[in-house]
Amino acid sequence: MALVQWQAELSVGVEILDQDHRNLFSMLNELYDAVQSGIELAVLTSLLDRLAQYTQDHFQREEALMKACGYPDIAAHCDEHEQLAVKVSELQRRLAGSSLEFLSLELLVLFKTWLASHIRVSDFQYKPYLVAWTRSHSETAPKA
Ligand SMILES: [Fe+2]
Repeated sequence: MALVQWQAELSVGVEILDQDHRNLFSMLNELYDAVQSGIELAVLTSLLDRLAQYTQDHFQREEALMKACGYPDIAAHCDEHEQLAVKVSELQRRLAGSSLEFLSLELLVLFKTWLASHIRVSDFQYKPYLVAWTRSHSETAPKA
């Protein structure tokens, strides 16, 4: 059974970012499955690297769109992104000397909690700006 499931109510109004969020949910479920079947170092290393890279890529896309639509609270939002990136780097650094099970659970809790609260609270704050901007730039902007 999946640990997390993306639902339409989590849509931020722009498909490219919703797809990013769905991909992050999938990676989290992949990690959850790997933990249940006994996680190995190579698997955890690979998943952590992919999550770190994908999170960075997603943040860049999201921040570019927030900037484009003139979202006024972008600095605080970017700070939240940076805080997650720092925590992920810290987990990557601790990978070699930690219990794999413990580290995996930390990673699961970190992302599950972060995704749920960040999307519902912080991402939803830029949603009206992004949706309005997308509508007014429907020729060039990503599809809503
Ligand atoms: Fe965000």
